[in-house]
Amino acid sequence: MKTKVVKVDNSMDNLEEYQQAVDMLKSGEVVAFPTETVYGLGAVATDEQAVAKIYEAKGRPSDNPLIVHIGTKEEVEKYALHISELAEKLMEAFWPGPLTLIFDQIPNQIAKNATPDVQTVGLRMPDHPVALKLLQILKLPLAAPSANRSGKPSPTEAAHVEKDLQGRIPLVLDGGQTGVGLESTVIDMTVTPPAILRPGGITKEMIEAIIGPVEAAHETETKEAPRSPGMKYAHYAPEAPVYLIEANQEKLEQALLAYEIKGQKVAVIGPDELETTQANWYFSIGASGNIEQMATNLYKALRQCDGTAADLILAVETTYEGVGEAFMNRLAKAANGRRYTN
Ligand code: TXA
Ligand code: MG
Repeated sequence: MKTKVVKVDNSMDNLEEYQQAVDMLKSGEVVAFPTETVYGLGAVATDEQAVAKIYEAKGRPSDNPLIVHIGTKEEVEKYALHISELAEKLMEAFWPGPLTLIFDQIPNQIAKNATPDVQTVGLRMPDHPVALKLLQILKLPLAAPSANRSGKPSPTEAAHVEKDLQGRIPLVLDGGQTGVGLESTVIDMTVTPPAILRPGGITKEMIEAIIGPVEAAHETETKEAPRSPGMKYAHYAPEAPVYLIEANQEKLEQALLAYEIKGQKVAVIGPDELETTQANWYFSIGASGNIEQMATNLYKALRQCDGTAADLILAVETTYEGVGEAFMNRLAKAANGRRYTN
């Protein structure tokens, strides 16, 4: 299969390209498309055979449920049982946007393999012109995980999708670089208080300002069985091992010197302010005071490390405030718990 990449400039009318994508989806194919968070790999969520192709293309464990994307708020009622007042408030405040709400699922609406082993469904209305236009022409829900090979960082550019899924999927809609750069916040609305299962661009503080106290992601994650099945798998990992390191110029330069003496080559992912020629490669991802910008650029930098001959990667820690919680959550997973110690 040859993978076709089609530019869909947001300012142009690409009706033909959209129609081609819609035709493919309706005939049971998968199509990659941009959202405001990361690129998704979509299949019609009611089509079991199409959904099976998502797992196959990604190499994704088949016990990990998919988020179902919808093009209008009203569609929630087709798939979700018991839409609480709190859920209504969150949808009103943050949709379209990077927030996935977990509801009890109305049976027999969504293909079984889209939500394996659970009686719930995660729904999200994305805030990206291409995703919304696609959904609104299609008029069907799209099951869509991030469009990377399982275990790799999520794609924030069409080129990342192409790199991972070349020859495995027929079409990528290229809408340029995504904005948020980290996957959506996932919140379980079936429990009291609601529980954040995965931190993202919509922060705990933003949610609590609308509906009051919720359980934080780090609280839900430490429990024995992860409630968000995806959280138990290795994630976001470049080829070389990642080590977290404190945001301190002196510590960083000492570490780089120590590795140089050992003859090891190091790539650094960090803020503009700490950029140093002592690193063999330094990927600057933004001003340290601008965590949103750093989030936008994180996955691209993790992927750029794969293009180097680095023996290891040092990733500079950031604040845990606001989007910093999601940023550090992904970085900690990429590092698999490793931290630089001298
Ligand atoms: O921003 C995003 O959410 C992107 C874009 C494409 O929308 N999608 C995405 O999907 O990140 P994925 O499949 O890579 O991650 C979905 C996460 C997984 O950790 C999965 O376990 C969890 O959400 N999830 C999905 N449905 C769930 C459910 N019903 N119950 C619990 N967790 C669920
Ligand atoms: Mg993913």
